[in-house]
Amino acid sequence: MIKNTLYKAIDAGANELKRYFNGTFTISSKATINDLVTEADHASEKAIFEVIQQNHPEHFILSEETGSIPSQSSIKWIIDPIDGTINFANGIPICCVSIGIEENGEMIMGAVYNPFMNELFFAEKGKGAFLNDQPIKVSTKNDLLTSCLVTGFPYQYLDTENGPLQIFEKLIRKSIPVRRLGSAALDLCWTAAGRFDGFYEHKLQAWDSAAGFLIVQEAGGKVTDLKGNKYNPYQPGIIASNGQIHDQLLNLLLGGNL
Ligand code: IPD
Ligand code: CA
Ligand code: CA
Repeated sequence: MIKNTLYKAIDAGANELKRYFNGTFTISSKATINDLVTEADHASEKAIFEVIQQNHPEHFILSEETGSIPSQSSIKWIIDPIDGTINFANGIPICCVSIGIEENGEMIMGAVYNPFMNELFFAEKGKGAFLNDQPIKVSTKNDLLTSCLVTGFPYQYLDTENGPLQIFEKLIRKSIPVRRLGSAALDLCWTAAGRFDGFYEHKLQAWDSAAGFLIVQEAGGKVTDLKGNKYNPYQPGIIASNGQIHDQLLNLLLGGNL
């Protein structure tokens, strides 16, 4: 069963995070100096691949460090072997493994596991969202001005109109708390669990959000792109919320004021 493989795969990846955390490992830069990849990212990815390929060798895989392993299969695994690599590299235990499963272009299942907090988030389309097997729900707050938000910042393109810095400034000037955890997958899961009322980010990759966006939706939340359209993880922007504050957050991201 695919769910068993998902659990085994995410566990195998997370074991590598635990093995390397706070130990010695190589770190190198990718596109920019602070865009990091560690030995643990590669080890986690390898361990996840082994489980998937043992159980479903025919499936398509898309994973951050390796890219695509294409196939004709209608099932695609979308993997972030460590989301929150900068946290991981600094010994900050806010990081996770994220795995989403897509069938014919629709996300059908997702899991996000932070082994340092012992928190495993899971959702299956139409069957709800769970944290360590307990159902979770988004928050019920309906006013953006009293909401607790979370965001992240890209390494580039900060200064565009209605870009990350402008939006952040508008919120902060209204003294709205905006946190920055450093892991988009956990930002989404913590929104699903009602810890945050909303999350937005301007430039993510499919592996950052594939599992988390389904988890938010299955927890009763709403997820769109930055224009309010149906969310698609292959484009950059995301707004995820409890649904109640979604239009207020969207209006802000479209250039409106608070
Ligand atoms: C990053 C994290 C971060 C987000 C970045 C991502 P990584 O993923 O999700 O929160 O702001 O855009 O690249 O590099 O740690 O896998
Ligand atoms: Ca990531
Ligand atoms: Ca990553």
